Amino acid sequence: MKKIIFVLLILAVAITGVFASPKPESKGAKTYKVGVAIYQFDDNFMTLYRNEILSYFKSLETDNVKYNVTVVDGKNDMAEQSNQIDNFITQKMDVIILNLVQTSSADAVINKVVAANIPLVLINREPLAYAKDGSTLDEQYEGILKNAKVCYVGADARQSGSFQGRIIAELPDHGDINRDGKISYIMIEGDPENIDAQYRTQFSIKYLTDAGYKVECLDDQVGNWAQSKGQELCANALAKFGRQVEVVFCNNDAMALGAAAAIKAAGRTVGKDIYLVGVDALEECQEMVKAGTMTGTVLNDHVGQSHKAVDVAIELLNNKPIQNYYWVDYVMVK
Ligand code: BGC
Repeated sequence: MKKIIFVLLILAVAITGVFASPKPESKGAKTYKVGVAIYQFDDNFMTLYRNEILSYFKSLETDNVKYNVTVVDGKNDMAEQSNQIDNFITQKMDVIILNLVQTSSADAVINKVVAANIPLVLINREPLAYAKDGSTLDEQYEGILKNAKVCYVGADARQSGSFQGRIIAELPDHGDINRDGKISYIMIEGDPENIDAQYRTQFSIKYLTDAGYKVECLDDQVGNWAQSKGQELCANALAKFGRQVEVVFCNNDAMALGAAAAIKAAGRTVGKDIYLVGVDALEECQEMVKAGTMTGTVLNDHVGQSHKAVDVAIELLNNKPIQNYYWVDYVMVK
């Protein structure tokens, strides 16, 4: 008998569950459709960034305002991302947040979003034509910027590169472990089309040379932001140049994590016979900096950037005036 009552009870619960009507939205509630296109889900930093976009939108919902956020994975394929943007346009998104696969394709993508009259917030990968010094800002972009519904939210990668250089300059031996008068380094770069990779590569070294240090580049390779590539490239360089390598510069922390594994496997010790710096300040890397197994990193503030991107998207949804650029500061971690 008990068993029958139990089964009936379960059935009742299930039936009510199936037929229960969804909670009615309060009168006048508005749901905005937000399309978020990420260059690739398989990226440590962009995973933190995209999760924060989602949770921040959720936290801003009220009884009257809801955000229906669709996030898509560009799989590092520009053609795929271009289709995803076409779909967003067909679905009549109210605003699009876009992390481009290829900044060189920015104009084609921006033009179609603008033509569809959908506000656009570009994030993380600064289209080259928007370069901050203004030198490459051509008329076409000027036109788009005047449209006032397109903006870029990011961090100035020159700052992160300079901080990497400064971390080395401020060491007691200034990165010159063997005291031969020069800092001998290897550079592991992110996607070279990405301005973050270009600037970090350039400005980490510029900081040192501007400060009067002599440098020697033993090796400069592209690791495309990936941990496995960072490990492989660092292992190769250590095998080839051995103790000559004093500093390993990685354009991001994912590659630095790979490099750290290669350094360990080669029997070297960070802080003693080699230095290692990255960018992002992934939690794991912050722990390593504390433990001394990484020399330093630079906080790439995914919380600040994602919140700014969402705040601006909401301003656009409310037809508020916006700026065309929003910059979030990097912070040195050492
Ligand atoms: C981050 C990298 C990330 C890249 C993606 C950079 O700002 O530092 O970790 O892979 O953005 O575009």
